[in-house]
Amino acid sequence: MSDIAKQNAAEAALKLVEPDMILGLGTGSTAAIFVRLLAERVKAGLKIVGTPTSEATDKLARSLGIRLVAPDELERIDLTIDGADEFDPALNLIKGGGAALLREKIIAEASERMVVIADAGKEVQSLGKFPLPIEVNAFGSELTRRRIHHHIASLGLGSAPSSWRMATGESLLHTDGGHLILDLSCGVIPDPKALGEALDDIPGVVEHGLFIGYAEQVIVGEVEGARIVRKR
Ligand code: A5P
Repeated sequence: MSDIAKQNAAEAALKLVEPDMILGLGTGSTAAIFVRLLAERVKAGLKIVGTPTSEATDKLARSLGIRLVAPDELERIDLTIDGADEFDPALNLIKGGGAALLREKIIAEASERMVVIADAGKEVQSLGKFPLPIEVNAFGSELTRRRIHHHIASLGLGSAPSSWRMATGESLLHTDGGHLILDLSCGVIPDPKALGEALDDIPGVVEHGLFIGYAEQVIVGEVEGARIVRKR
């Protein structure tokens, strides 16, 4: 999808930002556009504090002069603006295409509000076309993979192929937290909440990319502008 659509979503999200807010700063190409726009407002005098959801966003925001504070030093996060890989009509999300899902979920969970910015290509009737990222501890990772497939068989997803995400070359990708990412090609996820709960029960699963009940609204960027999707 075009950068204009992402830009339009990010611009609309910027209107939600108020002076003195503490903002969770998301990860990915759409969130990066938001961070750049936010930095322009900061240069023009807007006072906000950000807390980043990845090393990449940390680096970008710092380079643009946005004041950052580590999550542990914050008493509240007013609003988090983040991207998504898919969203459904109930505003359930798949996230983690940029491998930042663990920190993204920690920040989303701690936020008063989470608003998603996404282009229209991310809107689906049912989640699952985008392979579900699952963050897995490197210890016993193949055992954990087998447990994942065992657990999800009862949800009708037993045949979903999975693959370890690779970094450049032939080495496995490691997240900011040093974990692996298993991408699970579900096809359609009939019950995202049940799948999330099944994955939560597996010890080697650090986190998964199903964000259920986090998003307050999705700002959908299109070439002509942006529209808001709220929970039905
Ligand atoms: C990062 O881990 C992801 O959750 C991103 O927010 C998601 O992949 C959306 O990224 P884009 O805005 O680049 O599509």
